[in-house]
Parts: sequence; C-alpha cells; structure tokens
Amino acid sequence: MNILEMYDVHTYIAGFHILEGVTLTAEHSKLTILLGRNGSGKTTTIKTIMGLTPASSGEILFQGKQIQRMRDFEIPWLGIAVVPEGRDVFSDLTVEENLLLAVRKGKKIKKQRLDYILDIFPPIKDLFKKKGKNLSGGEKQMVAVARALVNEDELLLIDEPTKGLAPIMVESMRLALAEIKKEATIILVEQNFEFASSIADHFFIMEHGKVACSGKIEDLVHDEAIQRRYLGV
Ligand SMILES: Nc1ncnc2c1ncn2[C@@H]1O[C@H](COP(=O)(O)OP(=O)(O)O)[C@@H](O)[C@H]1O
Ligand SMILES: [Mg+2]
Repeated sequence: MNILEMYDVHTYIAGFHILEGVTLTAEHSKLTILLGRNGSGKTTTIKTIMGLTPASSGEILFQGKQIQRMRDFEIPWLGIAVVPEGRDVFSDLTVEENLLLAVRKGKKIKKQRLDYILDIFPPIKDLFKKKGKNLSGGEKQMVAVARALVNEDELLLIDEPTKGLAPIMVESMRLALAEIKKEATIILVEQNFEFASSIADHFFIMEHGKVACSGKIEDLVHDEAIQRRYLGV
C-alpha cells in the first residue's frame, strides 16, 4: 500500500518552474529515499508535499486522499511531520522547549512517547535544559529529528539529516533512523549514497525537477552506471 503518491506535480517558486512533473510513490512502512544532485528539486518536493511551496498542478495523495490543495498549517494534522533542511532549532529556547513547541495536541509530550524518543536519542536526556544555540551541529540535528517524533505521525519527511555531520554522528543518525523506521514511514532526502543505501528500501533519483529513475535500492547499489550518471558517485 502506498502512503503517499505524487502524480505529475508542477511547482513554481517566484515565477520559476521548479518541479516539472514529479511522479513518485512511497510505500507504507518502507524507507523511500530521494537522491539527486544539488538543485535537482528534492527540497522543493518535500516543501510541496507540506504545502509550503504549493503545487500549481498535479495530484498529491496521502493515504489515498488528495492533499495538494490543502494549506501548509492543515497538512501536519493529517499525520505528516517534516524535518526541514538545515536543522533550524530555535536558538534561544531550550531543547525541552523546542520539543514542546512541536506538540500539536495538548501541552506536553506523553511519558511513553518521551521514553521512546530518549531511547532513540539517549544524549537528548542530558541536553534538556540547554539552549539551542549551545548545541553542536550533531546535537541540533538530533533535536530536529526528535521534534518530528513527538506527535506520533505516520509519515516523516526528513531533508538531509547527515549534511555536515562528523562520521560518528552520521552513524548514530543511521541507527536512529533504522529504529524510527520500525514504526513510521520515512521519506528521506540524502546526498550521502553510502548512508542512503544502507537503510533505504526504494529510491527515486531527481534531475531538473523531475524523477529520472527509480526502483529498489539493491538495484541501484549494483548499477554503477546510474550512480555515476545521476549522483556523481
Ligand atoms: N526561492 C527560490 N527562488 C528561486 N529559485 C529557487 C528557490 N528555491 C529553490 N530554487 C531553485 O529550485 C531548484 C531546486 O532547488 P531545491 O529543491 O532546493 O534542490 P535540492 O534540494 O535538490 O538541492 C534549484 O535550481 C534552486 O535554485
Ligand atoms: Mg535540498
């Protein structure tokens, strides 16, 4: 079953035609990866799903229902969380406040859910009272992903979580995503092919605002010609 489907989606930003007919699907409970060189339209695809750069035409379906005309503030309520590119943790708020701000219903994080989040990112426990601006890049990225977990959403869109991270942090992010994957569907934008191939089930490679090729990740791992052509691996 597909949790998300996009058909021939076009998006304009400031008059520029950025997405030129994106068609892709993400299967429920799987990890789908969006690959492609810089500027190929990966972030815009994520933003278009979230209604931040709305589609001008085409269809986006979440659990079979059209969402392409919904507003950006309505979409999270469907059960979709996003970790935007650039881990924008609020710098003057503590880690705890950053997490609480993400809560949609009520004013606190359920105990059980907090335990789950701390299980996935144990270092967060000791960072609770620290302000965003005093976190390292790796810690900020952890908080950014943790924040997307507080509402128990079914679909997580995560944009380049390993960008600029030290290898040891990349590895802990990989372990965290492998754990999160057990209970949520993930669409991941990732430039690090080795990282991507170690956790993904399916891939879509974007080029010039379109999907250039797609398939099972095993097939891509064995296809060096495609890796060279689209990814520069
Ligand atoms: N606000 C904007 N104004 C004009 N062009 C933009 C804007 N945002 C993105 N673009 C262009 O859209 C294209 C796709 O960008 P993006 O989706 O961020 O790519 P990726 O995430 O794959 O690197 C790029 O050519 C980028 O320059
Ligand atoms: Mg991007």
